[in-house]
Amino acid sequence: MTSLASVQKSKVKNPALAEQGKLKIEWAESRMPVLMKLREEAKKTLPLKGMRIAGCLHVTKETGVLVRTLKAAGAEIAWSGCNPLSTQDDIAAALAEEVSMYAWHGMNKEEFYWAIERTLDFKPTLTLDDGADLIFTVHSKFPELAKYVLGGTEETTTGVHRLRAMAKDGALKYPVIAINDAETKWDFDNVYGTGQSSIDGIIRSTNVLLGGKVFVVAGFGHCGRGCAMRARGMGARVVVTEIKPTAALKAVLEGYEVMTMDEAAKVGDIFITATGMKDVLVDRHFRSMKDGAIVCNTGHYDCEINLGQLKELAESSREIRANNEEYSFKNGKKIFVLAQGRLVNLAAAEGHPSEVMDMSFANQFLGMVRLAKEGGSMKPIVYDIDPAQDQEIALVKLSAMGMRLDQLTSEQAKYSDDYSSGT
Ligand code: ADE
Repeated sequence: MTSLASVQKSKVKNPALAEQGKLKIEWAESRMPVLMKLREEAKKTLPLKGMRIAGCLHVTKETGVLVRTLKAAGAEIAWSGCNPLSTQDDIAAALAEEVSMYAWHGMNKEEFYWAIERTLDFKPTLTLDDGADLIFTVHSKFPELAKYVLGGTEETTTGVHRLRAMAKDGALKYPVIAINDAETKWDFDNVYGTGQSSIDGIIRSTNVLLGGKVFVVAGFGHCGRGCAMRARGMGARVVVTEIKPTAALKAVLEGYEVMTMDEAAKVGDIFITATGMKDVLVDRHFRSMKDGAIVCNTGHYDCEINLGQLKELAESSREIRANNEEYSFKNGKKIFVLAQGRLVNLAAAEGHPSEVMDMSFANQFLGMVRLAKEGGSMKPIVYDIDPAQDQEIALVKLSAMGMRLDQLTSEQAKYSDDYSSGT
């Protein structure tokens, strides 16, 4: 077995930032009671002892809490970021003192895959993904490593979608647990996390007033729903674009205006893409946009806004402030692109708040523990998490928030299953 000690330990931008990073992780720990409870239990039972975990997930203070919890449970860990712009360098520096960390803000594509490959150097027994780049790298470039892997987890909607397609084609080589599909993940992280952090990213990179603005949300899935809800809360007039009739109908009944992107392009002040699909905003949309339009993306991949086409249309571009690129057209019109079309909530802000990541990462942790125990006998398909786990996580979260639940009486419990009692 290759041990971490025999491979290069870490590569981060500035190790001197470690103390600042540790303080931020400590702050996140104080907001993540579910994960901290799991950590306290795991310190006694060491359910991940002997496991080598390769992780590929945004390097944030919340991820710091997850990494420390996996380590406390006995695992050896090597980590890379899952997006070139989302790594927080102070957190990477802090974690580099505790595990193997290969991540820095502003990596290029080659460095990004170099970092992933370094985490594979120690032949992981478990993989932990957000966006599936690590699993894809194992399958496409190092298929011989799959035999060491008991299983993997996937954090995000797009990643789970692609892994299900892979499993359907029989191409998946080890079991994967779809963390995204846990109710305590998608119904909280995707909605409230994306909603708040995306608005945060827009504000940090522009400081524009949202009140009165026409705020166009492309895609009314869980992430789009969160963005629409929070933008409306700030006084914006929200327009939704959709391809799915039921999703569009939900948006209408929520009180949003629904139109095509061709129509929305002419009226929007701020655009955010949350679809998981490429080419949502293309040249004809940029041509119709108003002077001063602001464009950003909160989907996992940076293909939703076709920046190549915008670059061709524009005469010049310059960074006007951090995470805000101004594109000038011949006729004097300007369009502003935030965070280079990458996840605006992570690249221009700090990602989702700790309180929601608490539940997402509790699911990640329990997924790892299950795979360590059962992965060897699981099939190479995509598994959902046990719904009982959702209820347990929600219960711990609620009690940490000081809230209590009612309970059914035995009469009521009987009533719910009683098909003989009618009106
Ligand atoms: N994805 C979205 N927000 C995140 C955060 N704060 N940490 C890690 N991954 C995230």
